[in-house]
Amino acid sequence: MSIKGLVAIITGASSGIGAGTAIFFAELDAKVVLVGRNKENLTTVASKCYAANKDVNLLTIVADVTNDSAIKKIIDDTINKFGQIDILVNNAGVISKGSIENTSMEQYDYVMNTNIRSIYNLTMQAVPHLIKTKGTIVNVSSVNGMRPFCGVLAYCVSKTAVDQFTRCLALELAPKGVRVNSVNPGVIETEIHKRGGMNEEEYQKFLKHSQTTHALGRAGTVEEIARTIHFLASSDSSYITGANVPVDGGRHAMVSPYNGEFISF
Ligand SMILES: *[C@@H]1O[C@H](CO)[C@@H](O)[C@H](O)[C@H]1NC(C)=O
Ligand SMILES: *[C@@H]1O[C@H](CO)[C@@H](O)[C@H](O)[C@H]1NC(C)=O
Ligand SMILES: *[C@@H]1O[C@H](CO)[C@@H](O)[C@H](O)[C@H]1NC(C)=O
Ligand SMILES: *[C@@H]1O[C@H](CO)[C@@H](O)[C@H](O)[C@H]1NC(C)=O
Repeated sequence: MSIKGLVAIITGASSGIGAGTAIFFAELDAKVVLVGRNKENLTTVASKCYAANKDVNLLTIVADVTNDSAIKKIIDDTINKFGQIDILVNNAGVISKGSIENTSMEQYDYVMNTNIRSIYNLTMQAVPHLIKTKGTIVNVSSVNGMRPFCGVLAYCVSKTAVDQFTRCLALELAPKGVRVNSVNPGVIETEIHKRGGMNEEEYQKFLKHSQTTHALGRAGTVEEIARTIHFLASSDSSYITGANVPVDGGRHAMVSPYNGEFISF
């Protein structure tokens, strides 16, 4: 039931859902490997992990997951320090606005490289270790992977790819005892939207609008996602694999699988 003592790699750990998950895992006394691009931010999150559990065993790795050599370093450093990998949380992700009429190929490559290609390579290199421990993989996807939305085309395509990878990989690895699932958050209060191009005023409007687009009447919190990631990573979910779990205040149920919704993003 517990993840105490298990070695968990979390990408995108320097902010948002990744940071929240790292802190929660630290509290539960997992051995946490925090991967992020920004050294300062990663150090800040590491100190929050220590505040949650002063005895926690941490490894911080400054790396950009779109860099193939850096991915090798993530695996090597983790094995050198902890000798094994039990949990892989593929969380690093970016969003970028644009429709088919105005998304550049540079934007497309940036989103797909970060949200899918990186996961593919990191997962590929982690799998031999996960098979040894009969570990778990949790991919952080999005409600945008399950339902069509306009205005963030490359992001939606990348997240649907993550969902399908999750299901296919689950089937490939089930005979080897490795479970693979994703969480699909709705709107969660993090930096991702502003980094993707929203200004503060647009963001506040977007959050207000989220009160009507989510059945539970609000955007979600990082902790609510972290708790679900923990559930999927732990043996509490021992009979669940290949699942894309919406953690979105009911939003997926409000959008038809066939008729999209325009995001004023
Ligand atoms: C680092 O943190 C600052 C302050 O929260 C934030 O503005 C910035 O986007 C972060 N950078 C990265 C790469 O996470
Ligand atoms: C992943 O990156 C490694 C280098 O770390 C490279 O050798 C390998 O070909 C890459 N795999 C894929 C699927 O891109
Ligand atoms: C990619 O990662 C490697 C290993 O950490 C590093 O030496 C190299 O400078 C990185 N490349 C870029 C473009 O950041
Ligand atoms: C991109 O095109 C869509 C229509 O396809 C439009 O609604 C949106 O405002 C455009 N965005 C930019 C930045 O031009």
